[in-house]
Amino acid sequence: MTAPLVVARGLAKRFELPRAPFAPRRCVHALRGVDFELHAGERVALVGESGSGKTTLARLLARLYRPDVGTLVWRARDGRELDLARASEGGLRPMRRELGLVFQDPFASLDPRRTVRAIVGEALEAHGLARGAELECRVAAWIERVGLTFGALARRPHAFSGGERQRIALARALATEPRLLILDEAFSALDAPRALELVRLLEALHAELGFALVLVAHDLALARRLTERVVVLYAGRVVEEGPAEEVFVRPKHPYTQALVAAAPAWSATAPPRKGLAGDPPSAEAPPPGCAFHPRCPLAVDACRASVPALTAVGGIRLACPITASRSGA
Ligand SMILES: Nc1ncnc2c1ncn2[C@@H]1O[C@H](COP(=O)(O)OP(=O)(O)OP(=O)(O)O)[C@@H](O)[C@H]1O
Ligand SMILES: [Mg+2]
Repeated sequence: MTAPLVVARGLAKRFELPRAPFAPRRCVHALRGVDFELHAGERVALVGESGSGKTTLARLLARLYRPDVGTLVWRARDGRELDLARASEGGLRPMRRELGLVFQDPFASLDPRRTVRAIVGEALEAHGLARGAELECRVAAWIERVGLTFGALARRPHAFSGGERQRIALARALATEPRLLILDEAFSALDAPRALELVRLLEALHAELGFALVLVAHDLALARRLTERVVVLYAGRVVEEGPAEEVFVRPKHPYTQALVAAAPAWSATAPPRKGLAGDPPSAEAPPPGCAFHPRCPLAVDACRASVPALTAVGGIRLACPITASRSGA
């Protein structure tokens, strides 16, 4: 296999919370010691409950946040390695061109004052990839590719529905033909039929363009459909990682098992599922040891004492020695 597109080692990110004058400092450890690799063309899902660190990891990979600790290396198209953790804004330019981002809120993410032509053409222009008639031509081609008509070009975002805005956001993200597309809950604000149209469009574009995909999703069925590998986060750490079929069909970590059991059924005829039991961990003071231990039916003293290492078990990585030993590893 070729060298990965992006390699992260020991990534950590902390956020300071606002505090009253003279009050003690408060902070949230959003991500703690995360290793992550992504190969060209690979599609990976980041899943986990709200607050588990999915968006933080996605934003670190896009270098919208700088990691507090850890290394983050991007391999450019020409094979050169770029140290994203240390690069200056100027130094990040070659990577920015190879990156497309689509976020959840189609109403907030597009500048309401600009026309669709300007929005979709922005990155092509900024990176000097096209101008004049060629720019016009490429923007028009993208508008058609995402299923809108040329009439859209002169209009502004408010003239479009949520689904159409996400099509515009997708055209903007893919216009420079990036090698990595990051979607953070990009379909969550849409109704089911609109979301399905976007999913089909994304599948067709991926088949054609072969970009790597990082999909942040609450919806496990969507993650299973769109990706081949899944990373399960809990309280800012990876607890399980492996092929999507394996992790979703035979989840090993007690947290992944609970997450899968709580997800809406894949099939409409299956019985309704129950919600995830227990309270999510406190972001400011997560439980010591394995952060899942207060909710875990298998927890023993060792789980409270130390953070379990993420180790290879069969074809997956698992941070639970108890289930790992039961799986015969
Ligand atoms: N800018 C920020 N300032 C302060 N705390 C933050 C900030 N961004 C994230 N956090 C905190 O870091 C933790 C991880 O947040 P993150 O947004 O990465 O979670 P998430 O898995 O994307 O959740 P969701 O599914 O709700 O989007 C949370 O406790 C969150 O409150
Ligand atoms: Mg998020």
